[in-house]
Amino acid sequence: MLWILSTILAVLICTFLPCLVCLKILVLNKKWKRKKKELIVGFFHPYCNAGGGGERVLWCAVRSIQESHPNVKCIVYTGDINASASQILEKASSTFGITSQRDIEFVFLTRRNWVEAKWYPVLTLLGQSMGSVWLGVEALLSYPPDVFIDTMGYAFTLPLFKYIGGCRTACYVHYPTISTDMLSVVECQNDSFNNRKLIAQSKVLTKCKLLYYKVFAYMYGLAGRCSEVVMVNSSWTLNHINKIWRLESSTFKVFPPCDISGFLEIPLQRKASTEVLGDAGGKHVILSIAQFRPEKNHSLQLKSFHRFLASCEEPSNYKLLMVGGCRNEGDKSRVAELKSLISDLNLNKKVEIRTNISYDELKVLLSVAEVGIHTMSNEHFGIGVVEFQAAGVVALAHNSGGPKMDIVADTNDRRTGFLAHDIDTYSEALLQIFSLTHEKRAQIVNSARTACGRFSEQEFKSDFLAAVSPILTPHRKHE
Ligand SMILES: *[C@@H]1O[C@H](CO)[C@@H](O)[C@H](O)[C@H]1NC(C)=O
Ligand SMILES: *[C@@H]1O[C@H](CO)[C@@H](O)[C@H](O)[C@H]1NC(C)=O
Ligand SMILES: *[C@@H]1O[C@H](CO)[C@@H](O)[C@H](O)[C@H]1NC(C)=O
Ligand SMILES: *[C@@H]1O[C@H](CO)[C@@H](O)[C@H](O)[C@H]1NC(C)=O
Ligand SMILES: *[C@@H]1O[C@H](CO)[C@@H](O)[C@H](O)[C@H]1NC(C)=O
Repeated sequence: MLWILSTILAVLICTFLPCLVCLKILVLNKKWKRKKKELIVGFFHPYCNAGGGGERVLWCAVRSIQESHPNVKCIVYTGDINASASQILEKASSTFGITSQRDIEFVFLTRRNWVEAKWYPVLTLLGQSMGSVWLGVEALLSYPPDVFIDTMGYAFTLPLFKYIGGCRTACYVHYPTISTDMLSVVECQNDSFNNRKLIAQSKVLTKCKLLYYKVFAYMYGLAGRCSEVVMVNSSWTLNHINKIWRLESSTFKVFPPCDISGFLEIPLQRKASTEVLGDAGGKHVILSIAQFRPEKNHSLQLKSFHRFLASCEEPSNYKLLMVGGCRNEGDKSRVAELKSLISDLNLNKKVEIRTNISYDELKVLLSVAEVGIHTMSNEHFGIGVVEFQAAGVVALAHNSGGPKMDIVADTNDRRTGFLAHDIDTYSEALLQIFSLTHEKRAQIVNSARTACGRFSEQEFKSDFLAAVSPILTPHRKHE
């Protein structure tokens, strides 16, 4: 047994080592041939044309470096081979309003399908990770950078660029590739998105899968620790990354820039509700903004509102407006269920549901609402709660996850909102909010709007630069 293992190991070493040495020589050769002495910072973001939150982070990061380090050249490794550089920049500017100061060079990679999940029906995590190394090799050979920044969570590219590429390394993590939660789902034999029924039902398969996850988590940690600078997008991610990468405390929390400028324009003084409620104006509006998904727990909002009405003085003065995207049949049936719960609780006149509303309508609602209610537990972040705060709505959010850790301060001296966790605490908090004096209310919405600055682009820029500036220098020759 032992000799089989050692033979396999020997063969692996004999084939891989020469490959790595060749790769290293090729890379060094490329770097030597480079004439200009500027510092090259490479961003690894294979899906840079996707137009999501991760891309906003990328373009803001690029612009921050360009603005503050004039002698640095930024390049972006992308797999969007069907788009031209100008099309990508055009999209960044139309989607996010971000235009770069100087040229960004794009390095187009053809191996992006190696990181796509659909090719790995089994061992998906491992497959995608090894695929990302292969994609990384293409990037490294096309244009070796001096500083490498992974902004899409491909941690396994970090050791490649650090040891073979001789780069200084940083990464920005939105979400851990594997988390302790996923491990415990397998351990408890639950059938879930990351655990098939077949595996959940078998003891042996569960053992194998657990071993695989543990080995993978260990390798993920090894790879992650090759990053000199680790940045994460929230406290939730910070906790998970620190645990799984076994980092002590050097991780930087850099909140992504949120686009809330439209909401910051809304006057803090509430408008009369006539505009949104028609005849029944003059009421106090409680607003809920959430897609009609099960984890958002809309029924908790209804029950809490019901309890609140039972204990307040003028129940007819209040209205709950639930708005949110309704994407598919599942969402539609949930809306129907909510409507029947509304009838059961006898709230027909007091609750209104509006689906798929426009941005402009949302802004009108946010300028009228006095309270914004959020009930999802353990949400990683909760951009909706930030939007309430920006718009001058008193936020009442779930006492867990992102709202608790990153967004709402629920202490009397520097309060920016309220937190609750069940029917009693939510209805209690509603009573408390509606009995606030004008001054106290004004104080809360003012503090909340000020606190939103943490999620602004300026704040992102300064936090990001504080984290990466120390590595924006090449390795010294004799190090
Ligand atoms: C690029 O376009 C070709 C043909 O239009 C398509 O087959 C290919 O999948 C596209 N590649 C990517 C990466 O989108
Ligand atoms: C961090 O990224 C994850 C995954 O994209 C996302 O769910 C979460 O909302 C992000 N956090 C922040 C603060 O934007
Ligand atoms: C597994 O499922 C049980 C029952 O459905 C639940 O109580 C438990 O919290 C779940 N464990 C995990 C780790 O999801
Ligand atoms: C909301 O919009 C989505 C597409 O954006 C559509 O599929 C859905 O049917 C709409 N829902 C309702 C209730 O209009
Ligand atoms: C909704 O909230 C209630 C009360 O806290 C809780 O018991 C229930 O499990 C939650 N439902 C979901 C889907 O999170």
